[in-house]
Amino acid sequence: MTETTDAATREQQALIDTLPTDFRWGVATAAYQIEGAVAEDGRTPSIWDTFCRVPWAIDNNDNGDVACDHYHRMPADVALVPELGADSYRFSVAWPRIQPHGRGAINEAGIGFYERLVDELLARDVTPWLTLYHWDLPQELEDAGGWPSRDTAYRFADYSMLVFDRLKDRVRHWTTLNEPWCSAMHGYVNGVMAPGRRDFAAGMQAVHHLLLGHGLATQRMREAAPPETQFGITLNMSTNDPATDSEADREAARNADGLGIRIYLDPLVHGRYPADIEADLAARGAELPVQDGDLQVISAPLDFLGVNYYFGVQLSGVDEQGRTIGQDGSPVQREVPFGEPTTAMGWEILPGKFTELLTRLGRDYPGLPIYITENGSAFDDQPDETGYVADGGRTAYLASHLAAVAQARRQGTDIRGYFAWSLLDNFEWAYGYAKRFGLIRVDYETQQRTIKQSGYFFRDTVRRVRDRQRSPDRG
Ligand code: FCB
Repeated sequence: MTETTDAATREQQALIDTLPTDFRWGVATAAYQIEGAVAEDGRTPSIWDTFCRVPWAIDNNDNGDVACDHYHRMPADVALVPELGADSYRFSVAWPRIQPHGRGAINEAGIGFYERLVDELLARDVTPWLTLYHWDLPQELEDAGGWPSRDTAYRFADYSMLVFDRLKDRVRHWTTLNEPWCSAMHGYVNGVMAPGRRDFAAGMQAVHHLLLGHGLATQRMREAAPPETQFGITLNMSTNDPATDSEADREAARNADGLGIRIYLDPLVHGRYPADIEADLAARGAELPVQDGDLQVISAPLDFLGVNYYFGVQLSGVDEQGRTIGQDGSPVQREVPFGEPTTAMGWEILPGKFTELLTRLGRDYPGLPIYITENGSAFDDQPDETGYVADGGRTAYLASHLAAVAQARRQGTDIRGYFAWSLLDNFEWAYGYAKRFGLIRVDYETQQRTIKQSGYFFRDTVRRVRDRQRSPDRG
C-alpha cells in the first residue's frame, strides 16, 4: 500500500491520531450533482434543470443532464466508498423523482432507485446518511411560489414522509435540509443559484419556510420512527471576523454572523430568532413571517448538527468608495482577504478558523453532537496519462482540516464524524464541471473513475486511526 499519510505534517498526524475508533468516516454527494438521468423513470424538472437553461447562469452553460451518470452506474460507484476506507455515505434524494408534481402519491420508479442504493450500501457494510433536500425543488412548486410560500413547507413535510415510510426500516440517519442559507440567499436574494431570484424580502420568507419545513418534517418522521433513528439538519457556516476594530466593520461581521449562523441555529436550538437580526430585517422592509406555534415546531429536538465548512471570511462594512450603504440600499459587506492561499474556488485556506467555528458552536449550542457533513477543496487537477491525479493541494487541505477537527475535539467539542466532499468530481452548481472536488477523478468523456492521491490519503488515514486505536502498543 502506498504510504500517503506522510502528506500530513507530524503535528497534523499526531492530532488526527487522537480521533477515536468509533469516529465516523464518510464521503458525500448530492443527487443533482452526480445522478444525470434527469428525464428518466418519471422524474420531472427541478429548479436546477430550469436554471441551467438560462444562458450563462452556469459556467460554460453546463447542466446536470448527464453529470457523473451515477443513476446508471450506482452499484459500481457504491463499491468505491469502502475502497476509500469510508464507513458511511451521505447522499441526497431528488424530490422530483419521488413526487414529480411536488405533491401526491409516490413515484415507484423514483423511490426504487433509492431503495436499491440503500440496499447496495448496506450489503457493503456502509451506513447510509440520507439528506432529503439538497436544493432540487420540483419546478412546479417553484411556479406555485417556491420557498417564499408557506405551503412549500407543508409540501416538504409530505414528501419527507413518503421517503421516510419506505426507507425508515433501513436508514437510521436522516438530514432534512442541506444548507438552507444557500437556498435562501443564493436562490432568492442574490440569484446566483436556482431559482435565481433577486428579492431580499422573499429570501427572508424562504429562510422561515425552510426552517418550518424542517420542523414539520422532523416532527412527523419522529412520531413514526423506529428506535435509534436520528434526525438532524446540515448548515454551511464560515467564521465572520471584522476586518478592523471599526464600528462599521464590527457591524458588518455581526450582521453576517446573524444571517449566516444565528438566524438558523437560534430558532432550531433556542426556539427564537435573534432580536438584532429581526431589527435589521425590519429596517430593510423585510420580516420572518412567523405564525403562532412555528418556533415550537422549528425547535423540535435534534439528534445531531451537520456542519459544512469550506472557508472563513473577514468583513468590512465600508466599500471601496467609503460608503456604508450599497447602491441597492443594503448595508455594505465587503470581504477583505486574510492574505492566505486560496483553492480554485478563490476560497482562502483557513483550517484554524474551522477549529474556531467548531468550538464556538459547541459553546453557543451545547448538547448537540456535531458531524462534519462536508469539507473539501477544488483544485485544477492535472491527470497523468492513466487518469491518476497527484493532487497535493487537495491532500494538504484534507490533512490540515482533519487536524483542525481533531483539535476542536481535544478542546472539548462533541464531534463524531467527518464526511469528505466529495466522493466524485461532479456538477459544481453555478461553476458547472470546471471545479473539481472529488477524492476520485471523473473523466466526463468516458465516465472513468480514478482514485486521486487525496483519496488514498483519506483511506490510509482512516486505516491508520483505526489500527492505532486497536493496537496502541504499535504507536
Ligand atoms: C456546498 C454544497 C455542495 C458542494 C460544495 C462545494 O455548498 O452543499 O453541494 O457544491 O458546496
